[in-house]
Amino acid sequence: MAVGVFDSGLGGLTVLGALQTRLPDVPFVYYGDNANTPYGVRDADDIYTLTCAGVERLWAEGCDLVILACNTASAAALRRMQENWVPEGKRVLGVFVPLIEALTERQWGDNSPPREVAVKHVALFATPATVQSRAFQRELAFRAIGVDVEAQPCGGVVDAIEEGDMILAEALVHSHVSALKRRMPRPDAAVLGCTHYPLMEEAFRAALGPDVAVYSQPDLVAASLEDYLNRRPDMLGTGTKSLCLTTGDPIAVGHKATWFLRRKIDFRPA
Ligand code: DGL
Repeated sequence: MAVGVFDSGLGGLTVLGALQTRLPDVPFVYYGDNANTPYGVRDADDIYTLTCAGVERLWAEGCDLVILACNTASAAALRRMQENWVPEGKRVLGVFVPLIEALTERQWGDNSPPREVAVKHVALFATPATVQSRAFQRELAFRAIGVDVEAQPCGGVVDAIEEGDMILAEALVHSHVSALKRRMPRPDAAVLGCTHYPLMEEAFRAALGPDVAVYSQPDLVAASLEDYLNRRPDMLGTGTKSLCLTTGDPIAVGHKATWFLRRKIDFRPA
């Protein structure tokens, strides 16, 4: 019984950490496509091809269920994968829906018609590809009416994090928040719509100020996966071991991952 966790690089580790805390008995197999990160500046076909390759690798590890812990892949590739590509008996889930369910105060999996919700002005911070896809707005419109979303493509932040240049990443976060605030001066909620951004959560909070509720994905995705597995225990695949795979240099990726998550993480070549 193992569940796969996919990301373009290191960002999905923020989700992996929350999953391991919430579901300590479930083995997770992580796949970071560090050789091809960042996805956020690629076109949708490219993101689809790379994401399918990673998901197939996770299926080969006995993970029938794969979480795309990557908003860019969830936004640009997931629907196409689910419609045309995922075979019977396998599942691929994204990270948008749990976030939007929390934002719109829904129970996990509540598919009732869209309704008025408390939040009215939402700032979305995400990669250029995620913003361009408008997938967040589409999923939100299925669940809520009357919500104004202002999206900020946060170019450069993922590259800086992957390079370990946190000073540059912080400066970029401040500049992206300022740019958004010029268009939406008083958001009531901000969505960190990229799994790399929880690593910069303090910088986002500082730049946004105390009146903005910040929604970050790791804990929300973990709670929603727990609920899903309670309903679909058959989706726990045949894999038995936790392991981290990368298409990049396993030693370098392992060092950065260890530093980010403040615990030893070893990677193997994918
Ligand atoms: N962590 C990813 C996301 O959630 C990917 C970012 C990237 O590769 O550009 O969007």
